[in-house]
Parts: sequence; C-alpha cells; structure tokens
Amino acid sequence: MPSRVVVIGAGHVGATFAYALVHSGLASEVVLVDADPRRSEGEAMDIAHAVPFHRPARVWAGTWADCAGASIVVITAGGGQRPGQTRLDLLRKNAAIIADVVPRVIAAAPEAILLIATNPVDVLTLRARELSGLPASRVIGSGTILDTARFRHLLGERLGVDPRSIHAFIVGEHGDSEVPVWSRANVAGVPLEAFCRRGGIPFDQAVRDEVFAATRDAAYAIIERKGSTYYAIASGLVRICEAILRDQRTILSVSTLMDGPYGIRDVCLSLPTVVDAGGAASVVELELDDTEASALQRSAEVLRAARASLGGS
Ligand SMILES: NC(=O)c1ccc[n+]([C@@H]2O[C@H](COP(=O)([O-])OP(=O)(O)OC[C@H]3O[C@@H](n4cnc5c(N)ncnc54)[C@H](O)[C@@H]3O)[C@@H](O)[C@H]2O)c1
Repeated sequence: MPSRVVVIGAGHVGATFAYALVHSGLASEVVLVDADPRRSEGEAMDIAHAVPFHRPARVWAGTWADCAGASIVVITAGGGQRPGQTRLDLLRKNAAIIADVVPRVIAAAPEAILLIATNPVDVLTLRARELSGLPASRVIGSGTILDTARFRHLLGERLGVDPRSIHAFIVGEHGDSEVPVWSRANVAGVPLEAFCRRGGIPFDQAVRDEVFAATRDAAYAIIERKGSTYYAIASGLVRICEAILRDQRTILSVSTLMDGPYGIRDVCLSLPTVVDAGGAASVVELELDDTEASALQRSAEVLRAARASLGGS
C-alpha cells in the first residue's frame, strides 16, 4: 500500500515540510493542495525534481479529492504572524480557513489523521476536532514540538551536550503562555541543576529566564529578521509523521484535546504525548511542581478564552 501524505497549504511551511518529507523517504506519495493552484503546481514540480537524489516518491499538486486514501493530512494553510502581531491576533482569519478546509478534507479522507500547524495552532486544533467530528486521537496539533526543540537546542548549547540527550519539555500553549518544565528537565537522568553544578556551568534563575525567553520569543526574533519561520517546524512535522507512519510510540509534545490531566478539559494544548499509528494515543502526566501546574492552568485559561472569542459551536 502506498503511504500518502497530503499537505494543505503550499506556502513556506507546507512546501518546506513536503521537501523535508521527500528527504525522509517516509511517504511514497506526497500531494500538495493550495487555494492558489499555481503555487502548489510550482512547488510540486520543484520538489519532484529532488526525488532522483533521494528515495522514490510521487509528488504532485492535487485537488481535495486527492486526500482520499491519505494516512495523514497536514494543514498548513493560512497566514503567518506579521511583525508585532501575536499568534492570537491571527485567530479569526485562520479560523475561517480551517472552517473552509476541514470539511473538504473529511469528505474525501474520513480515515486520515489530521495534523494541524496553522496558527494559533492549539485553538485551531480544537476547531478542527469540532468541525471534523473525528476522535480526539486523530486530530493533532504540532503544538509545542517546535518550542521544545528550541528549548533543547538552547540548553544543549549552554550545557555542551547533544540536544537529543536533553529531556526537557515546553508544555501548554504554543505561544506566549507556554510553560517550561524545569523541575523535570534532565541530562541522562541527572537533573539539570545537579548536572550544571557538577560541571561548573552557571544555571541560576537569571540564566533560566534568559533561556526560556529566547525559547518563547524565538518566532518573533526570526520573523523580525526574515519574515517567517519554516525549517524547524517542517522538521517537527516530519518527526510527527514518522511516529505515526512507523507506529513508533514516540513521546512528543503535541497538542491534543485535554480530558482531565491537571483538571484541564475541553481545550487543546501540549503535553508529552505517545504518538503511534492511531495518532495521539495517550498523554504522559509529568509530575509538575506547583508553579508549573499553576502556569499550565493559566495557559489553558488563555486558550479557553481564545476559543470562546470565536463563538459558534
Ligand atoms: N505551528 C507552528 O509551530 C508554526 C510554525 C511556523 C508557522 N506556522 C503557521 O503555519 C501557517 C502557514 O505559514 P506560511 O509561512 O507557510 O504561510 P504562507 O503565507 O507562506 O502560506 C500559506 C498558504 O496557505 C494557502 N491557503 C490560504 N487559504 C487556503 C485555503 N482555504 N485552502 C488551501 N490553501 C490555502 C495560501 O495560498 C498560501 O500558499 C501560518 O498560520 C503560520 O503561523 C506554524
């Protein structure tokens, strides 16, 4: 059986994701769909010409009907943040795009897993779930997968350790209210504090604040410089697809519908989540300290208010 992945929105994020997916060799069919067919055609041609350098895959600019048979439909359609604009400012505009896209996808691909990257990703993951009627396990937002990667990258630089050896999560909203879980961060099982003390690496509150601010505000810093971000999120989306297509049961900080962890329900936000062939299988409840737990509740409230501001059912 061919493994088909469809990307809706062939802009910066969608096209970069499709290109990275071809590199990965994970999918045998990669379809790009965009409201502007010239754009998806151009990107599909360019990416298809890279295939002879990688592993065989069919890449084409498709229509909504090509969602049929897809294992995963990745939604990246919609505008990005402009300088000075918050992710929540984008909400109304991109919610209308999600309302346009999701019913068309579901009509063609009722069995697919939806993977949402369009911002603000948590509220739009919830909207996609509401509009699709799919089980919560099959509607996943990229959530804080990117923020967690940025956090591990910055910690890796400070600690002089491969970021893959650092276990540390950003949870909650993909955005301003996100929460760093310092209390559980570790290197090879050694808590960060102890690792730094033993290595003579400064790691006081000021350093933590600096690392977290650089993590949380990275998108703003990149957008100020080059207009949008797309490489790291594209790699993150490929990583989520890998966990699904290879049934890896990888624990990733993706956004899913909450059904009670830490007393949170009826919002989508990120917590470490087991991802397998069925999508988001289960949430791993980290033991948060009191400050982290309250910050997570606040993040959930921010998202609840954002969803309420949209109105509708
Ligand atoms: N989740 C994350 O971590 C993360 C990271 C970076 C960017 N993003 C988000 O990804 C989204 C895309 O960003 P981008 O830089 O690729 O934007 P872009 O403007 O480059 O591309 C968006 C594409 O969506 C298409 N589109 C718009 N409405 C559509 C519709 N109804 N149906 C099909 N296609 C439609 C446009 O024609 C365009 O090609 C933004 O919302 C951005 O904020 C998310």
